Amino acid sequence: MAGLGEHITAMVRSHASGDDSSFYAVALQVAAREARQGHHVLADELKRAVESSRKTTPRSNVTKLAQPRGDLAELVTVSHPEVSLRDLVVSPEMQVRLKQVLAEQRQRKSLLDHGFAPAHRLLLEGPPGTGKTMTAAVVARELSLPLFAVRLDSLMSKFMGETASKLRVVFDGVRDRRGVYLFDEFDALGADRAGNDVGEARRILNSFLVFLENSSSDSIVIAATNHRASLDKALFRRFDAVLTYDLPDSKQANAVIRARLGRLSKGVSWQAIAKHTDELSHADLVKAAEAAAKAVLMRGDANVTADDLVTALDTRRAASIG
Ligand SMILES: Nc1ncnc2c1ncn2[C@@H]1O[C@H](COP(=O)(O)OP(=O)(O)O)[C@@H](O)[C@H]1O
Ligand SMILES: [Mg+2]
Repeated sequence: MAGLGEHITAMVRSHASGDDSSFYAVALQVAAREARQGHHVLADELKRAVESSRKTTPRSNVTKLAQPRGDLAELVTVSHPEVSLRDLVVSPEMQVRLKQVLAEQRQRKSLLDHGFAPAHRLLLEGPPGTGKTMTAAVVARELSLPLFAVRLDSLMSKFMGETASKLRVVFDGVRDRRGVYLFDEFDALGADRAGNDVGEARRILNSFLVFLENSSSDSIVIAATNHRASLDKALFRRFDAVLTYDLPDSKQANAVIRARLGRLSKGVSWQAIAKHTDELSHADLVKAAEAAAKAVLMRGDANVTADDLVTALDTRRAASIG
């Protein structure tokens, strides 16, 4: 028969690993031992404490039990984005494709009933600042789901085995907690990071692809990258949709600027700025619009003029393109 010291040690261990059922099992062993020694009042009290605590133990502990080898919380950043599809300025074709993904998710029950999986693995690629990360937020918001941004820095480890088991924790999350899971800067996963050699990097990417292959279609996994060229062509087939982002045309550029300026945009002549938006990303345009707006407000004016915008756009181009 185990002594009190052993029981306490076992309880501390099971507490530390979040294993409630073995924690309570050991507590009941202690109660049984006390009963055998004639300490019935203590034994009964202990048993009652276990029974009532078991009832009130929150469900989250149960999920923790399912992932004993790592904590999802350390591997993802959770948010509840506010940005909607209307805020995202993209080509009409991209609008159609995104709406299709959203529609499939919204009707996933009936699709699944008929043996079809809704699109749930998306690869977003294109130049920086064109709305890839924003799209993940939009998808989360449109489906009223949390956004789980995977922290690649926490995921990547010098040890291949460790990275693979962390990936497993993330994909267990994909299965158990419906949400949008974003692997941003996804190319880093298959790259020579954390001192991995090329072979290691490839194995990490392969284990990602195996998890992706088997991932639950309740959640949406989004991989985003600025570096299409560094990705293996074979990889594209593993996703249900590959969405290609581009720099904005002049119509999109105007829409981005107008949205950011709001009421301040009344006085802008759009022809005058047309040539000045070339080569700038959506993100650049937002920043230029903000710079122009601030300059105008600090001057005490109520309207941004084309000149204000041209100055801000040209400054932005000089900063971002060099
Ligand atoms: N297509 C877009 N429509 C509207 N705003 C955009 C768009 N793309 C980028 N932005 C603005 O730039 C910011 C950064 O864009 P982001 O989505 O991070 O770009 P990416 O992930 O493609 O590098 C966004 O938060 C948003 O303010
Ligand atoms: Mg991004």
